[in-house]
Amino acid sequence: MVAVQSRRKRRMLLTSGNQVSIVRKAVLDDLDTIKAIADAHRDELGFVIRRALQESIERGELSVAIDGDRLAGFVEYRHRRDQQTTLYHIAVVEQWRQRGIGRLLVEAVRRDALANGKNVIRLKCPESLPANEFYTRLGWQKIAVESGKRRRLVVWELPLVLEAK
Ligand SMILES: CC(C)(COP(=O)(O)OP(=O)(O)OC[C@H]1O[C@@H](n2cnc3c(N)ncnc32)[C@H](O)[C@@H]1OP(=O)(O)O)[C@@H](O)C(=O)NCCC(=O)NCCS
Repeated sequence: MVAVQSRRKRRMLLTSGNQVSIVRKAVLDDLDTIKAIADAHRDELGFVIRRALQESIERGELSVAIDGDRLAGFVEYRHRRDQQTTLYHIAVVEQWRQRGIGRLLVEAVRRDALANGKNVIRLKCPESLPANEFYTRLGWQKIAVESGKRRRLVVWELPLVLEAK
């Protein structure tokens, strides 16, 4: 599996065998499909408000993975005023999992956060979800466990380091 970034088009390609997945910023035409994916993952993500997704698209803080002509997953995040980017929601459609698409979506957030001068990405993940192992595999650090409204939440952090040129 190979990841390549096209600087000119500001998108990333992931190739696996004959398949090519692309990560790009979402556009408003993607909104219905993103909302449908979010709704299909209500257990993991909670209720995701359509208007909030729309605003994230308009701010350029929502990216999608495209496989062929299908939207295979999305990641929504927010660059705060301080040094932190917060990852709010990430989901890959079940049939596309375990192919590196989630990793590629997180990499897109990492690059965007660095480009915006941030030095850390944080997120909260319900303690019961298998996704916690995904963050471990990606090198994130578990910094706390909080008691959320409905369930315990693991707080994950990815410190960002500038790559040497
Ligand atoms: C979490 C999620 C986004 C991962 O997407 P994905 O495309 O399957 O992840 P990748 O294929 O990029 O996996 C990257 C690495 O994490 C590992 N990984 C992914 N999901 C895993 C899981 N459930 N358990 C253990 N390891 C996992 C992969 O094996 C891979 O490891 P490797 O590179 O060392 O071989 C996806 O499972 C998902 O959408 N889950 C439902 C929604 C959800 O829980 N979102 C997070 C809420 S906090």
